[in-house]
Amino acid sequence: MGWEEADKGWGARAKDWAYLMESTWWPEFDRVLRDAGVGEGGRHLDVCCGSGLAAQMAAWRGAEVCALDASERLLNIARARTPEADIRHGDMHDLPWGDGVFDTATSFRGIWGPNQQAVDEVARVLRPGGTFGVSFFPMDAPSAWDDWWVAIARVSEHEQAQSAALGSIAESGRVEEMCEAAGLVPGERRLIRFEIEGGPEVEDFVRATLSAGPTWTAINERGQDDVEEATRRLFEPMWDPEVGLRIGTAVEYLVATKPE
Ligand SMILES: C[S@@+](CC[C@H](N)C(=O)[O-])C[C@H]1O[C@@H](n2cnc3c(N)ncnc32)[C@H](O)[C@@H]1O
Repeated sequence: MGWEEADKGWGARAKDWAYLMESTWWPEFDRVLRDAGVGEGGRHLDVCCGSGLAAQMAAWRGAEVCALDASERLLNIARARTPEADIRHGDMHDLPWGDGVFDTATSFRGIWGPNQQAVDEVARVLRPGGTFGVSFFPMDAPSAWDDWWVAIARVSEHEQAQSAALGSIAESGRVEEMCEAAGLVPGERRLIRFEIEGGPEVEDFVRATLSAGPTWTAINERGQDDVEEATRRLFEPMWDPEVGLRIGTAVEYLVATKPE
């Protein structure tokens, strides 16, 4: 599938993704932006920025922000959120910026196992001494959120194969190898645990999950009813009438540095 195709799945429900799903991951954005040293006066790039909440948070920290994604419909929202940012439609494997022009870069669950060339590109556009924060789902830190992937994989065999390839970035030593191959020095892996705030009712989050790219694949294979039902069945036992739906999740990341 070419990079232009990403918009079919990720852009199909762009507003739901931006306002019901992406926004629930802010604790991850906050932590990685801080640890990567994104801040006042720095020039920052977010790769696979989606609808741009992390890019907006980088701008709030005082950075001059650039961002890129393959989904034009998500980018419309990213541009509305941060009009002053340089936000471009393109492929993470071929970044439209020159060598050494960024102080910091991030990618939040956007670069995966098969995307070595994307890491090479980040290394190219970083200045010597620049930092790169990259996050992904961990392999050895089970959380309630993992069960959602299992539920979706169960309804979509295609999604199962795809997720395994993408998730290989979390294998022991793999993301470190990818950074080293690109000429970056990887730091220690760090784990973040937080609770996704799914909403007051289970149905709110069932709607949110329909906006994720992998769900689009599953819907095309099995139909929306099956996908919704698999998600509903999973989350109903987690719902608390007093506090709504809270879902424990875990994300792993590391910060790599380009040698001076
Ligand atoms: C898991 S989402 C993460 C989005 C955002 N970083 C966030 O945390 O909400 C993956 C994103 O990667 C984008 N994407 C997929 N393939 C791409 C490619 N080849 N180049 C650029 N972006 C791509 C999708 O459009 C989608 O927005």
